[in-house]
This record gives sequence, structure tokens and C-alpha cells, in this order.
Amino acid sequence: MGIEDILLHDETIFKNINAFDPDYLPENYKYRDSQMEALAICIRPALKKGRPVNAVVLGSCATGKTTAIKKIFEMVERNSEKVVCCYINCQLNTTRFGIFSQIYHRIFGHYPPETGVPFSRIYQKIMQHMVAENKALIVALDDVNYLFHSKNANKIFYDILRAHEAFNGARTGVFAILSDIEFRFALDKNVNSIFIPQEIIFQPYTREELFSILKERTKMGFYPEVISDEILEEIVDKTLESGDLRVGIDLLRVCGNLAESEASRSIDEQHLNEALKRTGPVSLSHTLNSLSENENNLLELIVNFKDENLTAGSLYELFQQKTNASYSSFNRTLDKLEFLRLIDTKFTGKGMRGNSRLIILRFSQDEINKCMVQP
Ligand SMILES: Nc1ncnc2c1ncn2[C@@H]1O[C@H](COP(=O)(O)OP(=O)(O)O)[C@@H](O)[C@H]1O
Ligand SMILES: [Mg+2]
Repeated sequence: MGIEDILLHDETIFKNINAFDPDYLPENYKYRDSQMEALAICIRPALKKGRPVNAVVLGSCATGKTTAIKKIFEMVERNSEKVVCCYINCQLNTTRFGIFSQIYHRIFGHYPPETGVPFSRIYQKIMQHMVAENKALIVALDDVNYLFHSKNANKIFYDILRAHEAFNGARTGVFAILSDIEFRFALDKNVNSIFIPQEIIFQPYTREELFSILKERTKMGFYPEVISDEILEEIVDKTLESGDLRVGIDLLRVCGNLAESEASRSIDEQHLNEALKRTGPVSLSHTLNSLSENENNLLELIVNFKDENLTAGSLYELFQQKTNASYSSFNRTLDKLEFLRLIDTKFTGKGMRGNSRLIILRFSQDEINKCMVQP
């Protein structure tokens, strides 16, 4: 196709290309009923003139946490005027002022002036309004770990959760969303005893669930018969390997674009291969790059272990020789690798409980080594 054809060609295989966007809210949101229920239970007291229950939402990346919060907030707002739900992306808003500007905007429909007005005035205006209107405020702090770096977390939690001390009748709550189990401990360290949350866990999806979610997404995004179940199965395999549903959604989008750029009416094996070259091991490298020194050390030991059966007990001995780490720190690091879906652990039923766990690497040595070689 010539350049002009590419621009003007108006046949498309995408019914709705936005269905593959990172912030697309799926209409059909399955497998998260119990988590949505748990969130609803936390919100319910706020609808009945009480205080919302604080929650911490935990789960590895792309397990639907952000989607769940946005869905439940939409639902609350459709049904009640008495609760203001404010979703905040902490990756984008890391300061006290930044976060309260978002809350202010949510309530008053415009942002406060960036300069000239002290924080306390903005804070006061928000809380006075909530009390006067007899509304509760729930703030969802998504990817809240970004507040830990700047050491702002405690102040911000304090501002929100202790509003009632200065503003009689203020009813406020926080949902803290975390995609890294390590941060569960960091949260306690960064936010002292004012925050005693309900824990809501988002487990990784199974293969069947991934298949069904991705299939549903193809129905929303593509016209019928654009993609076969065989190709979809392969995409599901890649998704499972990466441990990240976003990889699958992204593959669908890239495959679609490749097929379309060739004016093909369907996605074939070649498009998938090409898409894999482009999106390939990004996710694994990304995960590996995010590891701490200790996590890296532990993973290296696992990768380089020659024998078939590696148990947690013998791994701990190796780890201790290398790093002098305590058993609890070892355990936390191991949990983290499992949480990141780099390894699986399996109980053998023999010996002391934790120590007899078998450690199974979810990737081949080669794959990991390739991604671990730093530029
Ligand atoms: N149960 C589900 N059904 C349909 N799509 C889902 C489901 N869970 C996650 N997704 C999709 O996966 C992607 C990542 O979800 P997201 O809520 O952002 O995950 P998290 O916040 O846990 O990282 C989004 O595109 C979302 O639409
Ligand atoms: Mg998220």
C-alpha cells in the first residue's frame, strides 16, 4: 500500500480500537465478584451516615485492581449523592498539594490555584464542604508505593484519616492499592497506626480465566472472525508466561495493527510472530530490572541451581552464605519472587513446613539470563 492508501484506507478490522487501550474499562468484568463485594462492604457504612472502612488492595500487576476500584466508584456515584469517591493515580500525583488538588477538583469541578493559596486553606475548604453537605469522602490511592519515595505517605494518610479531629462529623476513608507484596510491609512502616485496613487480595488469573478475558476483549475490539481461537491460545500462552494480562491485550492490538497495515482481514501466524518480536520479553526484563539486590541474588541462586529438586531449606543455606540474611528476610524475598510470578513454590508434604517447599522456576534459565544481562 502507498502512504496515501494507508491514511485513507477506510476498511478496518477494529470494531473498537479503544478496547485495547490501557485505561479501557471492560463492560464485562468477570472473576472479581468477591473482591468487588469486599469493596462494597467497606463503602457501605459511608452510605448510611457512618465512616467508610479503610482497605488495602493487593495483587500483582494487571490483576484488575484499578478496574475494580473504578467500577465500584462508578456504581456508588450512580446510586448515591452522599459519598464522594476520588480516584488518584499516585504515579502522577505524589505531593500533598497534588493529591488534595485532585480531591478539590473532584468536589468543586475545578482545580485550586497553584500558587498564593496555602495548603491549609484548600484542605479546610474540602473538609468544611464535606461536613456541611453531610457527605463521606473515600480516596483511592492507586499505586500508593509512589508516595513512599517522597516520604509523603504518612502525612497524606494522616490528612485524610484524621480529618474528623479538626472537622467534627467528617467521615473519611482510604483505599490503598499496591501491586507489590514487598510494599505491604513498607506500608506499615510508612503509615503508622492510623491506617488499619481491611485486606483485599487479587490473585493472579488462571489460564482459563485469561483465555476468557482475552476472548471477550477480542469480541469488543475486533469484528467477527478477525482472530481464530488458535492464535488466541498462543497469545494466552505468552500472557501466562509474562504473568501480565497487559501483554496479551497489547499483543492483540499490535497484531490487529499489523494485519490492518497489510490490508488483511484477519490476523495470522505471521502477524503474531512479528508482534512478538516487538513486544516480546519486555515484561520479563521489566520485572527483572525492578528487583532489589537481594531479590536478584536469590533469583540468581535459583537460576544457577543444577539439581532438579531445589527446596526452600537448601536455598536458604545458599542464600545465607551469600548474603548473611535472616530467615524471615529470606522468606519475604522468596514470597516476592513468587508474587512476581518468577517462581512457583509447591509443598512436598515432607519435613518441616516451609523448608520442604519445592522451588520451581517459571522461566527457562536461558530466558532469564538473556533478560538479566544488563546493557
Ligand atoms: N476480570 C477482567 N475482565 C476483563 N478485563 C480485565 C480483567 N482484569 C483485568 N482486566 C484488564 O487488564 C488490564 C489491567 O487491569 P488493571 O485493572 O489495570 O490491573 P491492575 O490495576 O491490577 O494492574 C486492563 O486493560 C483491564 O481492563
Ligand atoms: Mg493499576
